[in-house]
Amino acid sequence: MKPFKGSVLVVGATGRTGVWVVRRLQHHSIDYHLFVRSGEKALELFGPEVIDKLTIGSIEHADEIRAAAGHAEAVICAIGGNVTDPKAPPPSAIDRDGVKRLALIARECGVKHFILISSLGVTKPDHPLNKYGQVLTMKLEGENEVRRLFSEPGYSYTILRPGGLIDGPPLNHALDFDTGDRIVTGVIDRSDVAEVAVISLFTPEAHNLTFELIQSKEAQQSSLSDYFTQK
Ligand SMILES: NC(=O)c1ccc[n+]([C@@H]2O[C@H](COP(=O)([O-])OP(=O)(O)OC[C@H]3O[C@@H](n4cnc5c(N)ncnc54)[C@H](OP(=O)(O)O)[C@@H]3O)[C@@H](O)[C@H]2O)c1
Repeated sequence: MKPFKGSVLVVGATGRTGVWVVRRLQHHSIDYHLFVRSGEKALELFGPEVIDKLTIGSIEHADEIRAAAGHAEAVICAIGGNVTDPKAPPPSAIDRDGVKRLALIARECGVKHFILISSLGVTKPDHPLNKYGQVLTMKLEGENEVRRLFSEPGYSYTILRPGGLIDGPPLNHALDFDTGDRIVTGVIDRSDVAEVAVISLFTPEAHNLTFELIQSKEAQQSSLSDYFTQK
């Protein structure tokens, strides 16, 4: 039986965390649709099985988001601007305005649950990462819109704030969850962030929750769902 019955729109599916989100949705046999900037890159990463599951576009364009959002009951957003490339759109365009646009259109199109991958440190304006176009503050503004739109009755949100992202396999570490943006430093595998995002779809304790997550000691995990009740 599918643990989540609807289809999930993965935004930023061709990014390093997004790829893991797709893999973990596949692992849990959950239906998905992908919103990507490059169909070629998506086919290279996931193979021909995703050819009917693609909408090509940018979260800078409302009409392209609208074409994708009608396919889904939930969204997992794993996008992030490239803060070190001066030619890329700034965090204000992607992490703030793009996320706000996506959340608004998703809600208008009938999406009920919105899962956003954000970052540790978003509530700290003096954080050193803010020298890159105020990226953390921009992410907080995106988060605020998701909370505003998806905390109304009949809707829900989950906002994950991971530590520094690294690239190990999933379920290989114990995790630390916290709330209130109190964790100063730490890392976590993108694969585990993706797994936590996916299980948030069908874990009631994850709904209407904003939380930080980092990994601790190496230890094989059979599931990550218990962390929601321990936080
Ligand atoms: N790096 C860290 O240590 C760290 C720590 C905490 C939180 N985070 C946050 O975690 C999230 C995932 O990080 P990551 O390292 O997996 O990111 P990533 O590999 O850089 O992937 C970012 C994704 O966003 C997509 N994207 C960028 N601009 C877009 C636009 N205008 N329209 C549609 N898609 C767009 C990219 O598309 P393409 O595939 O076409 O390029 C890519 O798929 C990001 O929000 C990041 O800021 C990162």
